[in-house]
Amino acid sequence: WAVAAPYVAAINRLKRERNAVILAHNYMTPDIYHGIADVVGDSLALAIEATRVEADVIVQCGVHFMAETSKILSPEKTVLMPDMEAGCSLAESITAEGIAQMRAQYPGAPVVSYVNTTAEVKAASDICCTSANAAQIVSAMDSDTVIMTPDKYLAQNVAKQVPHKRVVWWDGRCIVHERFTPQDLRDFRSWHPDLKIIAHPECPPDVVAEADFAGSTAGILDWVGRERPAQAMLVTECSMASNISDAHPEVEFLGPCNMCPYMKKITLEKILWSLHSMSGAVEVDPEIAADARKAVERMIELSR
Ligand code: 13P
Ligand code: SF4
Repeated sequence: WAVAAPYVAAINRLKRERNAVILAHNYMTPDIYHGIADVVGDSLALAIEATRVEADVIVQCGVHFMAETSKILSPEKTVLMPDMEAGCSLAESITAEGIAQMRAQYPGAPVVSYVNTTAEVKAASDICCTSANAAQIVSAMDSDTVIMTPDKYLAQNVAKQVPHKRVVWWDGRCIVHERFTPQDLRDFRSWHPDLKIIAHPECPPDVVAEADFAGSTAGILDWVGRERPAQAMLVTECSMASNISDAHPEVEFLGPCNMCPYMKKITLEKILWSLHSMSGAVEVDPEIAADARKAVERMIELSR
């Protein structure tokens, strides 16, 4: 905190001067999450917040697709991305052409794309989903076959929750969650028999099957708050446990965690520079944004 404190003070001052709001994902480091964020949450909460923001400027502390989503939903705002290189292995795994291929392979099937996609991919999709509402969205599609892109593991996990649908998927994966193995979870359970294991649905289905609960990052936070286990293992990005451990001193967080190299590109220094210089404004082609907005708004409407 001694190193972070001057940055935190400077960012909070600049935020007021610029009439800016900081939207931060649950995977941000604790200095960002606790020190400067105005709103923290999962992808769904941040997308909904972007529709409500009254400030002139949104600083998106997360990855690029999240900033694009904010810009799509709030085109009149300046949306700043402190590091344009903060990508996502899922968003990089598919283009609009990939969506066209899936449509050709499964004619008439609706395309549900994870928000972890570019604006072009959202624009080419029928509706978006997040890990918080994926099963609900797929279930609501008026078709027996539903195409889910680009996360194959999320799709496979959703397929188990909606057995009445035939879910087909693209072969994308999150480089953070694909690294956990069922053996990791079994090992920790054998060492700590009372351990509660909570996994993100971007993990492979055999990992999710070993967990006590699976949910979005907000779902994980709610579950821990509700169940208050003595020991918990969060099968997700490292910062998640660090961020929620302050609010839950009674819970001992154990286990391996994997770091998202994209999320970790966002630092206090880069946020300060971006707000100071007003650099890193995200732009989305208005025609693409209009189509992408339909897919995101349809998702928000269906998840109310
Ligand atoms: P959620 O916060 O929506 O669960 O998403 C996790 C994630 O990996 C975002 O990149
Ligand atoms: Fe993408 Fe995975 Fe990183 Fe989330 S954790 S931004 S899904 S690579």
